[in-house]
Amino acid sequence: MCGIVGYIGKNKIKEVLLEGLGELEYRGYDSAGIAILQEDNFSIFKAVGKLENLRNKTKDFHPEGFSIGIGHTRWATHGKPTELNAHPHVGENSYVVHNGIIENYQELKQRLQAEGFNFLSQTDTEVIVHLFESHLKALKEPLKAFRATLDELEGAYAVLLITKSAPDTIFFAKHGSPMLIGIGGDEKHFASSDTPLIGLCTDVIYLHDGENGYLSADAVELFNESYEKIDPVLKPLPSSKLSAQKDGFRFFMEKEIYEQSQVITDTLMGRLGEAEINFEELDSELFVGINEIKLCACGTSYHSALAASYLFERYSKIRCSVEIASEFRYKQPLMTQDTLFVVISQSGETADTLETLKMAKKAGLKSLVICNVDNSSMVREADASILTRAGIEKGVASTKAFATQMVVFWMLSLYLAKQRASMTSVEIAEHISLLREVPSTVVVKDELHEKLRRLSKRYLHGHGFFFIGRDVFYPLALEGALKLKEISYLHAEGYPSGEMKHGPIALADPELFTIALMPTNLLYEKTKSNVEELSARDSTICAISAREFDKADDFIQIQERSHYMHEFFEMMVVLQILSLEISVRLGNDVDMPRNLAKSVTVE
Ligand code: F6R
Repeated sequence: MCGIVGYIGKNKIKEVLLEGLGELEYRGYDSAGIAILQEDNFSIFKAVGKLENLRNKTKDFHPEGFSIGIGHTRWATHGKPTELNAHPHVGENSYVVHNGIIENYQELKQRLQAEGFNFLSQTDTEVIVHLFESHLKALKEPLKAFRATLDELEGAYAVLLITKSAPDTIFFAKHGSPMLIGIGGDEKHFASSDTPLIGLCTDVIYLHDGENGYLSADAVELFNESYEKIDPVLKPLPSSKLSAQKDGFRFFMEKEIYEQSQVITDTLMGRLGEAEINFEELDSELFVGINEIKLCACGTSYHSALAASYLFERYSKIRCSVEIASEFRYKQPLMTQDTLFVVISQSGETADTLETLKMAKKAGLKSLVICNVDNSSMVREADASILTRAGIEKGVASTKAFATQMVVFWMLSLYLAKQRASMTSVEIAEHISLLREVPSTVVVKDELHEKLRRLSKRYLHGHGFFFIGRDVFYPLALEGALKLKEISYLHAEGYPSGEMKHGPIALADPELFTIALMPTNLLYEKTKSNVEELSARDSTICAISAREFDKADDFIQIQERSHYMHEFFEMMVVLQILSLEISVRLGNDVDMPRNLAKSVTVE
């Protein structure tokens, strides 16, 4: 959570920092700030709320010439979203920005207060700057003081620090939160991800946990955890930012829903053979000795994992269990080495998921990550990775990442089915033909979007939504409910259709909205009976199906299809657009819903 940027150079520092923060605003947006040091003078600006407020505050500020600066966009963990709690945090002569959590900040704070340091904020971050200044007094040299500070910090952090005692230098450290360095001519940058650097830098250095050092106008000094000097590895940065723009859509989420057909085509590219799936990135050895797959993730990625578990057991005939990462971490799980540990993550940075991956590796399990961000922490940590190729996802509510995860899982279940001989070549070839058609199932038709837009006005009230489905449509129901609650702030739950009568049906009345997923190719009659039970108790029913359903109050017709997975993808789009249109009618910020952030790098 939180986004950080830094800059050293002679060009428009204010614009560089603010534009960089704009690219990272998805990581948190309850306040933002920048600190710029020119010769011996600090200029500092902070504002609560979206970045626009900070832009307004800095509009008459025009620094010129060589300067160094740091910036931050915040997602509050310790302390309310106020200006005092916004970063950069100040000491006597230094400023710091931080992404992560300092777990021992309370004890450090007490000690520093006893030493006479005055704290202005409620944040954990502020201890870093005072600790640095405390060490600087004793050690006199900023690099030594910075290292002494790092030695005392516990928790996760990516930190940038600037100080008058080294006025052309930015000190940095990475431990558990993402950060990279960008080089563009004689300018140097820091950012939490590579997006802000596109167009500004030619090369980047992806920092690893434990790495630290400093940047100045003419030096990049990198050290490992033991402060031994290491050579930075430069990697080329792509030059196109086009894919990160809105392309005329009202919201990134909307653009990303419409992009799904294209990105799924990309996901499939080069991976579909005649009767086999090719994952060039996988070594077939990965599955040798494996008797179980354990899938672990959070949020939307957890929902795709849950859906995948049906496919792995059905097609690959392999035992499959699914875990919520934040639960798995602390349940003292049994991990046996015949299990392949698979983490799923759009960002590759989610703290809980990343930690479970580290746990599994420590227990000696083989690991695989299904991820959308190359070079992310999880991709670097896992034994093997499959990239989902969804492109940059900017809407906080995940859409195309989920779609591409599902496509990867379907392919992976067939890849394994071949290895385990659990399906014939003819069966696999049939599935491959079905996979080729997935991009066409998610094309958004104007009439469908218009129908959902009109329908959305009927669903702005009520005491709750139940999204129900069976089999893979149950995780899809969970995902539909998550989409709706994230961006509409209405209460919604996903439930297995057959489970409603075991409790939740007690809630049924006209103000309870049931969104029923009724695929014709999978357990249609069973689902229908469950929906009828709800209808008989007067719940308002919105049915999504290819087959007309006379008990529905509202009916959204999808195409008649030959396979349930095609129905799955088409219904997924319906649920995404329905949530989007309800959110728009309620006047909410679709791309930046309240209290959420795109990348959750704290546990
Ligand atoms: C929902 C959403 C979140 C994420 C979750 C995991 O729309 O975006 O629930 O799915 O925070 O994030 P990743 O997939 O990046 O690990």
